[in-house]
Amino acid sequence: MMEDPTLNQKPKVFIPEIKIQARLIELAQEINQAYQGKPIVAICILKGSFIFFSDIIRLLDIPLTCEFLALSSYGSKMVSSGEVKLTLDINEPLEGKHVLIFEDIVDSGLTLTYIMNLLQARKPASVRSCSLLFKPESLKTDVHVDSVGFKIGKEFGVGYGLDYAGKFRGLPYIGCLEHEH
Ligand code: IMP
Ligand code: MG
Repeated sequence: MMEDPTLNQKPKVFIPEIKIQARLIELAQEINQAYQGKPIVAICILKGSFIFFSDIIRLLDIPLTCEFLALSSYGSKMVSSGEVKLTLDINEPLEGKHVLIFEDIVDSGLTLTYIMNLLQARKPASVRSCSLLFKPESLKTDVHVDSVGFKIGKEFGVGYGLDYAGKFRGLPYIGCLEHEH
């Protein structure tokens, strides 16, 4: 098989590190105000959200516990397969708790819809969502995102936790790759 030329691209800086950090401070303020000191269960959606999650939870001043959910839908393509698979679940009960989901990016919205349904069934006191990136033009469900870091177009974002075919997660900035044709 031929090597995927996209893997050799050097992603162009799309959102620099300093802008991400400034926006995280604002998002954290929003979240602190929304919960008013109430304890939350902060849920990191693996793998893509691990850096965003680690950075933002350190800016929150509400009591929190951390949980991790892993889902996959992408394979190595730039378009969602439309099929969401749960690969790691949370063992702790969520009943009566305030749950806050941290996503790296909401694209078609299928993943977040799947997560909302999964968690709502566990009878939490509330479920809110916070996504670093949001592609409103790609949305295919009516899922609501409570807090959004940056609205973007149809760019394929990589870095700061986001990958393309497993690569680029360690970039400190959000870069973009040229689309496949
Ligand atoms: P959705 O189900 O289509 O909303 O896609 C959500 C998941 O797809 C995200 O959690 C990401 O893991 C992945 N994804 C969607 N768009 C991008 C992108 O631009 N870059 C990297 N991953 C993406
Ligand atoms: Mg993800």
